[in-house]
Amino acid sequence: MIIKNANESLKNILVDGIIVGIFEDDHSLPEALQETDQNLGEAIQELVRNQEFTGKEKETMVVHTFGKISAKKIILVGFGKKEKFQEESIRAATAIGLKLAKKLKCKSVGINFIDQVEGLCPKKATSALCEGGLLGLYEFNKYKSSDKAQVTVTDLLILNKSIENKTLVEEGIDLGKNLAMSTMLARDLVNEPGNVLTPKEMASRAIDIGKQHGIQVEVLEEEDMRKLGMGCFLGVAQGSEEPPKLVVMKYEGGKKDDEYTAFVGKGITFDSGGISLKPGAGMDEMKTDMGGSAAVLGAMDAIGRLKPKTNIIGILGLCENMPSGRAMKPGDIITSMTGKTVEILNTDAEGRLVLADCVSYAKKLGATKIVDLATLTGACVVALGAITTALITNNKIWVEKLKQSADEAGEKVWQLPADSEYGELIKSDIADIKNIGGRDAGTITAGLFIGEFIGETPWVHMDIAGTARATKEKGYTHKGGTGVGVRTLYYLAKSLEK
Ligand code: BES
Ligand code: ZN
Ligand code: ZN
Repeated sequence: MIIKNANESLKNILVDGIIVGIFEDDHSLPEALQETDQNLGEAIQELVRNQEFTGKEKETMVVHTFGKISAKKIILVGFGKKEKFQEESIRAATAIGLKLAKKLKCKSVGINFIDQVEGLCPKKATSALCEGGLLGLYEFNKYKSSDKAQVTVTDLLILNKSIENKTLVEEGIDLGKNLAMSTMLARDLVNEPGNVLTPKEMASRAIDIGKQHGIQVEVLEEEDMRKLGMGCFLGVAQGSEEPPKLVVMKYEGGKKDDEYTAFVGKGITFDSGGISLKPGAGMDEMKTDMGGSAAVLGAMDAIGRLKPKTNIIGILGLCENMPSGRAMKPGDIITSMTGKTVEILNTDAEGRLVLADCVSYAKKLGATKIVDLATLTGACVVALGAITTALITNNKIWVEKLKQSADEAGEKVWQLPADSEYGELIKSDIADIKNIGGRDAGTITAGLFIGEFIGETPWVHMDIAGTARATKEKGYTHKGGTGVGVRTLYYLAKSLEK
């Protein structure tokens, strides 16, 4: 989709459809629309006055223009209450409007939001508009034989009368487009089936992304991991025929002697549970258990595109968790890269094992701050559902920075307690720690398990088990991968610029 800033009036603009937002509690038509509405015999005013269109969030209505202006259709979209209107509302409203435009077979669309959103930064508002539009029209139909050649919106004109805002709007278009592309990259990865997206395939995609943006990529093979003593990672991988891969992406946007921040992702390309096999129903969903790695790769892509002036190391811990004659068994004791021993009580608690060695490696590479992302626990889905990502941290300042970045991205996060009492739950009778802490506080004990390998380095763990994947369409998200984490990590990287 081509997106442009258009300094034209609604009346003359040559597009198939125009999307206009209307507030629930302020029915005055945007200035740019007033003249157009006069040409339409005040049809829109009338609809609003008669409460046929109320402006509630998610409400839509199509007004046909019968040749009175050049656009054939006007699509009204409800903006909801003015005081609640934020960038996130723009994302949703644009997605809803554009999905309807697509259904109406409009190829070119004009959108008139920017003049209306007083109080919001034009750059951020425009970025949100582009994110919402592109992500709203996202589809994953690679494996459908038909359905591919549907009419979709190819041109989006952002109607912006103000010359002063021109540069900000153009910067917003660039930012939003790039963030959406990287988010879609992560969605695609999550949506890929496990037989296609093996650890090897995902590593090869990481190499491609690296090449596109000049990011160094190194792939550690099983042998390298053995030499490093990564007994936890290899313990998980050993049940599978697919060799594990540990991908390291190094982006140097800052100075060489500046700090390095690591983003570490759980990348289980299929989680069967291993010998502690999961029940059959819903097991297919476990092809999405690489959502953490997808978010890290998406973020590295965004960073490669937008080039913040800071140093970031992206780490993807990739393997399958499978049962076999060689698989790890409950009762086994394995040794991590740090030398800490782990008693395995459930082979389905595998993500924390992979991450234990990955965060240790991030520290070995010199990372002085760490964020890990993982579809780690079912308990997190129970606690926060598909709406909010859980956070565990060892550092107040670092978690605040992350919360702020998530807020900028419009992604919801919620910090859980991580007091040392919870750590007691993963003490083992026979080894240093055990890989499950029992039914209580499952998301916290899983996070604290990773924390055991972090030490004092400022660290935030993001449990995206509920948020990485959606079960239904809503606003700008679709059923399947959401790409959660990509934009939060980008904004975090951006906030680290000196
Ligand atoms: N990948 C799962 C967690 C998960 C569950 C992600 C639902 C997305 C949706 C993880 O590896 C797992 O199986 N965790 C176990 C841990 C338990 C054995 C302590 C869980 O949550 O049941
Ligand atoms: Zn598991
Ligand atoms: Zn898992």
